[in-house]
Amino acid sequence: MSVRKVVSVLALLLPLAGFAQAADDKEKAAAVTDENGKYYDAEGNPTFKIEEDGTVDWYTFSGYRRYHSDCHVCHGPDGVGSSYAPALAETMKNIDYGTFLSIVAEGRKNLGAGKESVMPAFGDNKNVYCYMDDLYVYLRARAVGAAPRGRPPKKADKPQQAKDDEASCMGG
Ligand code: HEC
Repeated sequence: MSVRKVVSVLALLLPLAGFAQAADDKEKAAAVTDENGKYYDAEGNPTFKIEEDGTVDWYTFSGYRRYHSDCHVCHGPDGVGSSYAPALAETMKNIDYGTFLSIVAEGRKNLGAGKESVMPAFGDNKNVYCYMDDLYVYLRARAVGAAPRGRPPKKADKPQQAKDDEASCMGG
């Protein structure tokens, strides 16, 4: 199965499992497992790992970069929002992993009050869908107050797993 199909299948299935959850916070987002430099919370959702000296895991750093190349034009620098699109550094507290995947893959359109706001679908854009988890963990870190504004000062080395996954996603 291509990564794109996996992403869209996940996007369809996961929201069903994840409705009506309480807001995310630092405690829920705590990293409990580490698989080759990628971190997961107690429920098995991807999360960030930030050391006391500010060193972020590779995926959080990568998410910072991807966000600022593909999302910030509408959602503002560091997820602070704009007059056009919501402040993800706030609203991600209430958006679980499955919902995030589905919104980013499929987009969203809100027509009302004479104003049209459109969240584009990124399900066909490798520069986004190959980095969904990176974007998710970065925005999660921003929303629970674990990552300050700006470029992370230090980052972990890029894990071999990230290199392999990237090569197969971008090439496939
Ligand atoms: C062209 C402008 C634009 C770009 C680029 C964009 N978005 Fe959006 N996004 C929007 C708008 C507008 C909404 C609100 C849609 C609505 O009203 O339902 C939105 C909504 C969202 C939501 C739901 C937020 C909420 O509070 O309900 C998420 C999550 C999201 N975007 C993530 C992303 C990510 C991740 C990227 C980059 C890969 C991105 N967006 C790029 C315009 C954009």
